[in-house]
Amino acid sequence: MISGWVSPGRDLALELVRTTEAAAIAGARWLGRGDKIAADQAAVDAMRAVLSDVQMEGTVIIGEGEKDEAPMLYNGEVVGNGQAPHVDVAVDPIDGTTLTATGRDGAIAVIAVAERGTMFDPGPAVYMEKLAVGPEGAGIVDIRLPVDKNLRALAKARGKSIRDLNAMVLDRPRHAQLIADIRTTGARITLIQDGDVAGAIATAWPESGVDILFGIGGTPEGVIAAAALKSMGGDLQGRLWPRNEEEREAVEDAGFDVDKIIGLDDLISSDNCFFAATGISSGSLLKGVTFGTSSVTTQSLVMRASSGTVRLIEAFHRPEKVAKL
Ligand code: FBP
Repeated sequence: MISGWVSPGRDLALELVRTTEAAAIAGARWLGRGDKIAADQAAVDAMRAVLSDVQMEGTVIIGEGEKDEAPMLYNGEVVGNGQAPHVDVAVDPIDGTTLTATGRDGAIAVIAVAERGTMFDPGPAVYMEKLAVGPEGAGIVDIRLPVDKNLRALAKARGKSIRDLNAMVLDRPRHAQLIADIRTTGARITLIQDGDVAGAIATAWPESGVDILFGIGGTPEGVIAAAALKSMGGDLQGRLWPRNEEEREAVEDAGFDVDKIIGLDDLISSDNCFFAATGISSGSLLKGVTFGTSSVTTQSLVMRASSGTVRLIEAFHRPEKVAKL
């Protein structure tokens, strides 16, 4: 533990879920309206407004990008009310901006917070190969092994036949071989258009019907999902995936080893970490926002790694109170 560290109280978890609820409601107003920039901006503004009241002095490690491109929630921005605890913050006010803009399932608003200095800073490493599993797969799968070995080991650990396993994969041309390899084993596949934070967490969420997530997605999204899987007792392993020589050089110049296996504890090295997510549109993890006449309903997950408690929170917001979101 860092000296001078003031442990975040349990209340921080509830404070954080208020930020994702606000982002989800604001983002959900743009559902299917074809404008992902406006949706993202609305969610960013809403999250940032609520964040300013949260008791913490947080530095954004994973945000909307560098200061000049992102006027708010940029990497390095200090958020919270300025009081202890001092923490690292990762935000994704909408994971699934295209899903939101095109009115599709699976978009969520997310935030992760960890003790200062304990969150992996991806720098120029945009993409990462990922392997995520729930508690029964932790310590069983290994990203270095071929897909069939991992699926066989997971099936055994879960006491299931391999053809009953459901592997989630982002639907991308880069995954053609991966998908073919999974198909060869007889396992089932759920292809998602976007949103591998929810996909990774779904592997540890019994109701989701997802057993494992494979494939290349955003590195920032990997760090955020790690905070949740740490709380849920699951596992996420990664390996940086530069798209070309130029990116490889930038990643190596920034001090990363592209061959290194990045484990859960490399992504978030402290158990003092929190995660909150709210559904924008319904998906395998959470229900989306519904706008009723007497209430606006949100469904969220909130968790804390040190206790390992996962809470599913359904909230009913008064429409007039959230009208500006
Ligand atoms: P955005 O909402 O920021 O667009 O991210 C969605 C997402 O699907 C992530 O969940 C995933 O990690 C990443 O994009 C994959 O990147 P790409 O779309 O470039 O394959």
